[in-house]
Amino acid sequence: MHGAVELLRAGEIVALPTETVYGLAADALNAAAVAKIFQAKERPKFDPLIVHLSHRAMLDRVASIQDPDAELVERLTQAFWPGPLTLLLEKREIIPDLVTAGLETIAVRVSAHPIFAQIVKEFDGPLAAPSANRFGRISPTQAADVLAEIGERIPFIVDGGSTEHGIESTIVRIAAGELEIMRQGPITAEALTKFGKVRHAHDQSKIIAPGQSTSHYAPRTKLVVVDDIRSFAPAPGKRVGALFFRETPVSAASRYKFAATRELSARGDFREAAANLFRFMRELDDAGVDLIVAQLVPEEGIGCAINDRLRRAAAKFP
Ligand code: TXA
Ligand code: MG
Repeated sequence: MHGAVELLRAGEIVALPTETVYGLAADALNAAAVAKIFQAKERPKFDPLIVHLSHRAMLDRVASIQDPDAELVERLTQAFWPGPLTLLLEKREIIPDLVTAGLETIAVRVSAHPIFAQIVKEFDGPLAAPSANRFGRISPTQAADVLAEIGERIPFIVDGGSTEHGIESTIVRIAAGELEIMRQGPITAEALTKFGKVRHAHDQSKIIAPGQSTSHYAPRTKLVVVDDIRSFAPAPGKRVGALFFRETPVSAASRYKFAATRELSARGDFREAAANLFRFMRELDDAGVDLIVAQLVPEEGIGCAINDRLRRAAAKFP
């Protein structure tokens, strides 16, 4: 861990576990260090990064919070920080334009992962850290995934085991007392409604969220989503991998149709399903199948975030 802090201080990039997915971190105030993130990820410069803080008190150094929203920000940070909630706020000058892709806003969060928390605290400054995958690919949920994605491009990976949530943080834009969900995640819309009016960002291509491109989180193998996997019949001679929430007696009977199967949560638990999602997508991607068929999960709670990731993965293969 100490090695990680030294590397960060020296302007290097380091992969670190967070409670959501692994991040690729650099000193957010050092544009040259941040540039290395874009290079390692092959990420286009128009796609801004999330900035991670050690604690709430650091927020005012990087963001300026205007009065009608100050109370809402206070309540949200008290309720969800440290944790998987990213807030879009007005950026301060101190943050290099490269971090925010020239936008007036900055995306910020405080990670609850003990290793990340320790490192950002010792570093004592904001860390820019997007997910540690190549652009457009599946986010890494274990150190081995980071190694496979960008291992040869970075000097250090801190192994913190499998991540708890398995999907990226919920991103919320705060404007005029309302909450706009820019990216669904572990903190659900239901959980946010207690704090104000919640809207969903629909046109995901508009400038306020340049990185929310429709096609994202994608395996190399073609992936399609279906409502009911039981009625799916693989084409003759095709090896198909199946990804589904939980097995029903009928889906058990149709298992023989598939070359590989992954069940997200046998007990039907959304949190467990989210934690398994990206690892299973990677495993099916590596299983040498011609096609991955994913059955959408019930559209409720964290299931919405899971379906969002599945639909984006499928969007790469129109
Ligand atoms: O859970 C997470 O949020 C993980 C861990 C590592 O913290 N990070 C993560 O970062 O998912 P990344 O860069 O893979 O996704 C951040 C998303 C991108 O789609 C980006 O476009 C968007 O947040 N974003 C960042 N700053 C933004 C801004 N100022 N305005 C709009 N969207 C922004
Ligand atoms: Mg990402």
